[in-house]
Amino acid sequence: MQTQSLWEHTLTFFPQFLAALKERTSPDATVAVVGASDGKFVLPLAAAGYRVIAIERDPFALHGGEVSLPGDTRAQAPGLIDRLKAEELHDRVQVIGEDFLTAELPEGHCDAVWTSCSWHYSANHHSPLAAFVRRMQTLVREGGLFGAEFMMPVEERHQFIEHYTSPERLARHFTPGWDVLLTVRTNQFIERPHLGQPHDHTHRMGLLIAAHTAR
Ligand SMILES: C[S@@+](CC[C@H](N)C(=O)[O-])C[C@H]1O[C@@H](n2cnc3c(N)ncnc32)[C@H](O)[C@@H]1O
Repeated sequence: MQTQSLWEHTLTFFPQFLAALKERTSPDATVAVVGASDGKFVLPLAAAGYRVIAIERDPFALHGGEVSLPGDTRAQAPGLIDRLKAEELHDRVQVIGEDFLTAELPEGHCDAVWTSCSWHYSANHHSPLAAFVRRMQTLVREGGLFGAEFMMPVEERHQFIEHYTSPERLARHFTPGWDVLLTVRTNQFIERPHLGQPHDHTHRMGLLIAAHTAR
C-alpha cells in the first residue's frame, strides 16, 4: 500500500477473521466493517477482492487532517476516502459516514461483518451493548460470518461499562441461530503509543468469530 493506517501497528486478530472468511464465503463476498476508521481493514479486504461496506462516524477518520504523533511531531494524515482513492480501491467500497447505531443499513445482505475495538467508544454507551451486537448480526445473511475484536476491562472504571466485555459475556448474545467458532482472550499487554494514546498503555483484548446458521 502507498499509504498507511494510523492504527497499522496495533494488535489485531484480523488474520483469524480473514482465514474464516476465505473458508466460508466466496472471493467476491460483501463484508461490512463497522467503525472502519482510516481503513486498516477496509483496504486489505478491498485489495483482496471483497466488496466492502465501510461504516464510520468520525469525520477525521473519513477525511484526514493534522495529527499529533508520538515524539511531539505533527503530520498530515490521509483519511479513509483519500486512502481508497490513492490505492484505486474506491470502486469496491461503499463508505457510509454515519453512526452505525442509527444509519440505514441493508439487513441480511452481507456475507460477513467485522469490527475492531469500536463499541467501547463512549458515544455508544447510551445504548446497551446488546443493541450494537444485534445490529451487527442483522446485517449478516444466513451462512455468513460475524467477527469482533474488542477491549476487555483493565481500569477500575471499565468494570462499570458493559461495553468493555469478555468473550464469555459476548457469547451470550449468540443464542440459537449462531455457532460460535472461535474465542480468544489476551492477558494484559503493553501497546505502544498510537492515535489518542500518546504513551505506552495497557490493553486486554478479546475476539469472537461466529457463523450465522439460521434465523
Ligand atoms: C479504535 S478505532 C479502530 C482502530 C482499528 N484498529 C481499526 O482501524 O479498525 C474505532 C473506530 O470505530 C469508530 N466508531 C465507534 N463507534 C462507532 C459508531 N457507533 N458508528 C460508526 N463508527 C464508530 C470510531 O470513530 C473509530 O474510528
